[in-house]
Amino acid sequence: MRTLRTTALSALAAGAVVASTLVGTGGPATAAPSPDLSVTNVTAHLQKLQDIATANGGNRATGRPGYKASLDWVKARLDAVGYTTQVQTFSTSSGTSYNLVADWPGGDAEHVVMTGAHLDSVSSGPGINDNGTGSAAVLEAALAWAASGNTPRNHLRFAWWGAEEQGLLGSNHYMRNLPTADKDRIDLYMNYDMVGSPNPGYFVYDDNPAGNGARDAMTAYYTSKGIPWEYIDVQGRSDHASFRSYGIPTTGMYSGGETIKTSAQASKWGGTAGQAFDPCYHRSCDTMANVNTTALDRNLDMIGHMVWLYADKDYGTTLPPTGANLLGNPGFESGATVWTGTAGPITSSTGRPARTGSWKAWLGGNGSTSTETISQQVTVPAGATAARLSYWLRSDTAESGTTAYDTLRVQVVSGSTTTTLRTFSNVGTSTTYAQFSHSLAAYAGKTVTVKFLATEDSSLQTSFVVDDTAVTTS
Ligand code: PHE
Ligand code: ZN
Ligand code: ZN
Repeated sequence: MRTLRTTALSALAAGAVVASTLVGTGGPATAAPSPDLSVTNVTAHLQKLQDIATANGGNRATGRPGYKASLDWVKARLDAVGYTTQVQTFSTSSGTSYNLVADWPGGDAEHVVMTGAHLDSVSSGPGINDNGTGSAAVLEAALAWAASGNTPRNHLRFAWWGAEEQGLLGSNHYMRNLPTADKDRIDLYMNYDMVGSPNPGYFVYDDNPAGNGARDAMTAYYTSKGIPWEYIDVQGRSDHASFRSYGIPTTGMYSGGETIKTSAQASKWGGTAGQAFDPCYHRSCDTMANVNTTALDRNLDMIGHMVWLYADKDYGTTLPPTGANLLGNPGFESGATVWTGTAGPITSSTGRPARTGSWKAWLGGNGSTSTETISQQVTVPAGATAARLSYWLRSDTAESGTTAYDTLRVQVVSGSTTTTLRTFSNVGTSTTYAQFSHSLAAYAGKTVTVKFLATEDSSLQTSFVVDDTAVTTS
């Protein structure tokens, strides 16, 4: 999780700049509107989970191959759209199990909003309502977030838990092993376990009311859609309990299981009185036929609403001081520290002068076919009204004429998208250092990679010498 993510902020924290400013009014001016998520997509996800169960002995239970296959499939979907995923392995008396945790790059790392669902079934069936529905709906919300292009104020994390049916083992394992500082960063955990019951009710968790605006946001959503709801005290019956026990605010919804729908509930919600909300609860008949698509669609949109709403919830965004350089080792005086790329460009060689100090990034200058890069990850703060990348460049060449043989591209990589901000070439070189800068405002709230990429053709060198880089906000 966060310890794997190297951000410029952590580089700063390790360096001389220790001050940070609390700004309560940062973040996007208007919250992104609630999405209308696709129940067609969720049904396709459910069919995939059903197919996985069918191909693996009819279930997706802990210690059985259908569980890991489910996890691998969800992970691949998330990886493909830019999530940073992590698989956490743990052992249970039913065999090895796994959690899948997916972080959306960017947002305020000090304020984490989590949404989760258990991915395991019981061994008696494929677990399509319990909990294919929660797993698939949370997956669709995560995919839709990635596709939205929104930049969250807070950091979004999604989780699919293993071995819930054995007693919340996966979520307990996650929380037990999460460093205290990271636990403290979680502002909200939302849990979705059974959200498409065939004889549905709409039960909003009410067992963690302390300071819990999320419960009220959820009931307000249902009310605004004309959907009656009831509170349910779910106590320790699902994965939110692993968070609640550490004092983290939680909420969630449940569309009902083995208990019987009363006639009062049937008149309010429709369906069949005297019958269980889910007659196939924990049975082999919990298949594709065991889902009420209307309930699934309504709850999917509710989940989307909650994710979108809490992505931009104002928890008091932490912004770095205006003007601080968010790049680590920006003038290369510490060599290659925090920069990655091809070996060689970062040098104190006197063959070309640094602008300041003695180190710089000397890209190109080989006079033979070559590609050289240097790059660094940086989180552009959500709520920054302006953010810029700047750098100083000097160049010289043995080429002549007006054809660009050798180039230096200045790029920003966001997820799977690479944008070239500026291309320099052997045409128009200058041995006087000049400063260039480009807006990064479009990347507010995102973790991106700033990259310098030099390519040379087979003969006659061009040297691009970069020094004194910066990413600053204002
Ligand atoms: N956690 C239960 C299961 O997976 C279902 C449940 C969810 C029951 C929420 C009550 C409330 O079997
Ligand atoms: Zn269950
Ligand atoms: Zn469940």
